[in-house]
Amino acid sequence: MKGIRIGQYEIEKPIVQGGMGLGISWDSLAGNVSANGGLGTISSVGTGYYQEGRFAKKLVKGRPFDTENLYNAEALKEIFKNARKICGDKPLACNILRAINDYDRVVGDAIAAGANIIVTGAGLPLNLATLVADHPQVEIVPIVSSDRALKIICSRWQRAGRLPGAVIVEGPLSGGHQGAKMEELELPEHQLEAILPPIVEERDKWGDFPIIVAGGVWDNDDIKRLMALGADAVQLGTRFAATYESDASQGFKDVLLNATNDDIIYVKSPVGYPGRAVRTPLTTDLQPNPKIQCISNCVQPCDKAKGARQVGFCIADSLADAQAGKYETGLFFTGANGYRVDKLYHVDELINELMGE
Ligand SMILES: Cc1cc2nc3c(=O)[nH]c(=O)nc-3n(C[C@H](O)[C@H](O)[C@H](O)COP(=O)(O)O)c2cc1C
Repeated sequence: MKGIRIGQYEIEKPIVQGGMGLGISWDSLAGNVSANGGLGTISSVGTGYYQEGRFAKKLVKGRPFDTENLYNAEALKEIFKNARKICGDKPLACNILRAINDYDRVVGDAIAAGANIIVTGAGLPLNLATLVADHPQVEIVPIVSSDRALKIICSRWQRAGRLPGAVIVEGPLSGGHQGAKMEELELPEHQLEAILPPIVEERDKWGDFPIIVAGGVWDNDDIKRLMALGADAVQLGTRFAATYESDASQGFKDVLLNATNDDIIYVKSPVGYPGRAVRTPLTTDLQPNPKIQCISNCVQPCDKAKGARQVGFCIADSLADAQAGKYETGLFFTGANGYRVDKLYHVDELINELMGE
């Protein structure tokens, strides 16, 4: 299996590690994936929690206060610096969700931190090409779940003199937030195998940038099958979350190790998309909770806890608790295959296995 080229960057192996917030893919995981010839993706989510919150100027109840402390520029810089100690000059991506507050500023932070590639999903990143206009060293990559979304993005980016360096096509078996509504997720027309061919056709109208598919990729057979449908590379989340090098706590990894198929569920998230997670005390009996207070002001659609009160949990607080392994209060995102995690891998071992070596 050959690697891919994302604009000016050569990725030796067709294996991308998906950005995973909060704090699942920081320096250790992303650095090790890139060092081993894949593309590591640093998550920009919740960097104010990095190293016990030491970069946040203000913490309230141990949580970064407000958007600028939650998406902390200095911490992101430090994460890149530490990842570079592992992978040197090899390409590193940064994942920035479109739905966050301060999106434009965080894109600037990622550029300043030395991201080679910026990846955005959870909304259409229509202004991303403009934001990187003065930074030709930065490639931009959208995450889409339909040919229509790719078309809209390409036509907008072309007006700003850019096209995607690659496109990530995420199907409904993926971990975390989904690109389709709850009632659509199981429908045949929303599955990766169905959405991929029209996206390949749409890509052909714009150029030959690679197509990276995500959601439910488990092994070399899956990769071969998806490549036969037109994919150039794959992105994995869950399997990389369950590595020794992943930046999650052992408690997080234990939740994946212990999950059964029945434990993999959807939750309504304040981000406005359904999310896939492991059934834990937090997800059981979720009800509207008017008492939830907003500390970190994380995403636009939640509107300072209005969304959180409706669904019954704060997304930033719950993901941070999961990363720290707090079983009672954490929200543990996973892909549909999370129940298949029965041991932890080292990143090099996992990449070799995926490559069929
Ligand atoms: C714990 C976890 C957190 C995730 N967080 C993000 C995120 O912050 N941004 C994003 O674009 N995708 C996120 N994802 C999706 C992954 O990047 C990846 O595309 C997806 O999980 C692929 O499906 P798989 O888990 O079946 O391999 C997350 C996935 C997991 C499992």
